Amino acid sequence: EAIEKGGFDHFMLKEIYEQPRSIADCMRGRLDVKSGRLVLGGLRDYMKKFQNAHRIIITACGTSWHAGLVAEYLFEEFARIPVEVEYASEFRYRNPVINERDFVIAISQSGETADTLAAIELAKSKGATIFGVCNVVGSSIARATHAGSYTHAGPEIGVASTKAFTAQISVLSMMALMLGYQRGTLPEGQFIQFLHELETVPAKVEKALALNSQVEEIAKQFKDVRNFLYLGRGYNFPVALEGALKLKEISYIHAEGYPAAEMKHGPIALIDEEMPVVFIATRDSSYEKVVSNIQEVKARKGKIIAVVTEGDTMVKKMADHTIEIPSSHEAFVPLISVIPLQLLSYHIAVMRGCNVDQPRNLAKSVTVE
Ligand code: G6P
Repeated sequence: EAIEKGGFDHFMLKEIYEQPRSIADCMRGRLDVKSGRLVLGGLRDYMKKFQNAHRIIITACGTSWHAGLVAEYLFEEFARIPVEVEYASEFRYRNPVINERDFVIAISQSGETADTLAAIELAKSKGATIFGVCNVVGSSIARATHAGSYTHAGPEIGVASTKAFTAQISVLSMMALMLGYQRGTLPEGQFIQFLHELETVPAKVEKALALNSQVEEIAKQFKDVRNFLYLGRGYNFPVALEGALKLKEISYIHAEGYPAAEMKHGPIALIDEEMPVVFIATRDSSYEKVVSNIQEVKARKGKIIAVVTEGDTMVKKMADHTIEIPSSHEAFVPLISVIPLQLLSYHIAVMRGCNVDQPRNLAKSVTVE
C-alpha cells in the first residue's frame, strides 16, 4: 500500500497532487490549441441533439453534483441553454417534467451510484438523451447512458473526491465550449481564446499546490474549531459548497457552504470571533460584491481566510489569512480555487487524527438507495 501511495501519507494527498496531470490527461487528444480544435469523441453522434436541446438537465450526487453546478454556469454562459441541476435522489422521486427534447447529463466518478443510475433510467423512459460523465470505464452508468465522455482521472481511492471533481469540471468545460461554438453563441475568437486559457490550467493548479505549506500553517490555527462557513459567488459558489463538504466529510467539523449574498438571510447570525469564514474572493465579475460580504463578516469579528487572485491588495487588508492563486478567466477558476480548500480540509483532518482516506460512515460509491 505504501508503494501505491507513491510516497504520500494518504491516497487523498496523492490524488490532490495528481491534479495537474489528471486534468491534462483529461484534455489530451481532445483539446488542440494549435489547430483550434476541440473534439469529444463521445459527443460526435449526439452533437445535434445537444445543440438543439431545449434544456439541459444535470443529475448527480455529492461532489459530482457540485461539478454539475459549475457546469450550469458554464453552459448557460457559453451556450445560452437553460440548465437545471438535480440531486439524483430527489429527481427520481418527483415525477419530473421531462421529454425527448431534454439533454440529460449524468455525472458520476464511480459510475455506480444507485440514485444516479435510477435517475438515468427514469429520464430514458421519458425519451430524453442521456450523456454520462464518468471516471470508471465500463461502469454501470457508463453502460446505461446513450453516450458519454470519460474523465480519465485514473483510479480514485480516497473516499473524499478530489481529482475526479476537477476532471469532471474539465470535461464539462470542454462540452460547454463546444456547445457554445456550435450554436454560435460563442464567437470563434473567444472560443480559441478559451481553449488557450483551458490549456494553461494544469500549470496553474501546479502553482496552487505549491501553497501547501502555507495552507498547513493555517490549518494548525483552525484545527480545533467546531464550525466553518464557506462563501463564494458565481463560479465560486459551487466551490464554497465543495470546500465545506470536503471539510465535514473527513474532519467531522460542521461546515456549511453558501452563496455569499445569502449570508444575510441566516448564516450571518452565526458569526462571532469564534467563527472562521472561508471566502473564495478571486478577481472576477462578483469581486466587489464579495469584498463587501467580507466587510460584513469583519465587522462581526469573524475570522477570515480568503482565497484570492495573485497580487490582490484589497482583501489582504481585511482578511486574517490570504491564499493567493494564479489568475484565470472566471469560468475556469473553480479548477484552481478548489485546490487550497482540498488541502485545508486534508491538513485539518490529519491534525485531528481522522482517518482521511476512509472517513466514518461514508462509502466511496453508494450502490444502495
Ligand atoms: C459518495 C462519495 C462521494 C461522491 C458521491 C457521488 O457519497 O463518498 O465522494 O461524491 O458518492 O459518487 P459518484 O461516484 O456518483 O460521483
